[in-house]
Amino acid sequence: MDRALNPYAPGSGLRPPAMVGREAQVEAFDTVVARTGNHLHNRGMVLSGLRGVGKTVLLNELRAHADSHGWFTVAIEAVPGDAGARAVRGKLARELLVAARRYNRPGARERLKGVLGSIGSFSATIGVAGVSLGIETTEGRADTGQVDLDLEEMVDDVATALRPEGKGFAIFIDEMQDVDDELLTALLAVQHAAGQRQWPFYVIGAGLPSLPSTLSESRSYAERLFDYHEIGPLSRDAAGAALATPAEKVGARYGAQALDLLVEAAAGYPYFLQEYGKAIWDVAPAKVFTEADAERALELGRAQLDQGFFPARWDRATPAERAYLRAMAEDGDGGSRSGEVARRLGKQIGSLGPTRAQLIAKGLVYAPEHGRIAFTVPGMSDYIGRQRTE
Ligand SMILES: Nc1ncnc2c1ncn2[C@@H]1O[C@H](COP(=O)(O)OP(=O)(O)OP(=O)(O)O)[C@@H](O)[C@H]1O
Ligand SMILES: [Mg+2]
Repeated sequence: MDRALNPYAPGSGLRPPAMVGREAQVEAFDTVVARTGNHLHNRGMVLSGLRGVGKTVLLNELRAHADSHGWFTVAIEAVPGDAGARAVRGKLARELLVAARRYNRPGARERLKGVLGSIGSFSATIGVAGVSLGIETTEGRADTGQVDLDLEEMVDDVATALRPEGKGFAIFIDEMQDVDDELLTALLAVQHAAGQRQWPFYVIGAGLPSLPSTLSESRSYAERLFDYHEIGPLSRDAAGAALATPAEKVGARYGAQALDLLVEAAAGYPYFLQEYGKAIWDVAPAKVFTEADAERALELGRAQLDQGFFPARWDRATPAERAYLRAMAEDGDGGSRSGEVARRLGKQIGSLGPTRAQLIAKGLVYAPEHGRIAFTVPGMSDYIGRQRTE
């Protein structure tokens, strides 16, 4: 088929040609928007799942929905480490200033104009002077220089201004497990305050499967602040639709066996579905995709994954970290006991603590529960197995 028309979109955060299987989350967020319109309170939302399962795409979809309803929205992606923490604050400040500027034009809602100063002050607190974007600061509002106090005052001002209009203020946070402690506790505290004071303010976060426990460890009340959604692999039907719908839109279609083969191989993982869909489109000579096309597509798709998706993680690991990952791979994708990994490596569990922590910080593994460790990437253990034989 003509490559120039290939509709599939393997990649990070790339909007898929057919977004399927996430109706429950989209509907839950629609309800938040509708209830906010009726001045009713809601919790924030947390989406958690493995790499490539479609969290970023879903988060973007929810933000677009909020924007289309005239909400005040900002979006950030957290990055681990001290430099990451600074970068994220800078991004948050700029996003707030840009969102504020969008409202700061002639004809903008009068009420919100009054709170631009506290956005400017808060931005200065977290490191970006608003004046450069034409926004002054307000003395005595959100200007103590302490992140938690200033965040709360700024959110109070913005949300209180939006409330009479039935609009909300939402901060969308991708890779939320990487938000630094100071900013995370401030965000949780303000989400908590919002619930008590009826501010239409919501943190909508996405991150690895460990995110819910990271939040509870930070503040025990976090459990009650959010509706938690596990973003898992797609059902067989949804996976079939993710492949078939984009092809049908341009007059191509899958033979039943071809579709089964790809659906089976992708195991419901959206990233793999996009990669295999792209591959079959490129290899198929005619508009009906056959089983033989699917077999070639699997070969090509797997080679692509082995060149991109997997090494993007593997290549970031040091030799010691790779040894740890190899020891984990013996257990497959289901996760390992940290003690067992140490035993295989002939080391004390304590001495492996730093390696394990580094792998978690790099987003390669996570702790599904105390004393256990698992890959964040589906299919990683097989990939590591293939590295060993080469
Ligand atoms: N609901 C869906 N239906 C079909 N394809 C999807 C769906 N959601 C995401 N995809 C596709 O899956 C791939 C990965 O999506 P995305 O980047 O959102 O995943 P992620 O969970 O954020 O991954 P990571 O943890 O690595 O950031 C993209 O190619 C995207 O087009
Ligand atoms: Mg993502």
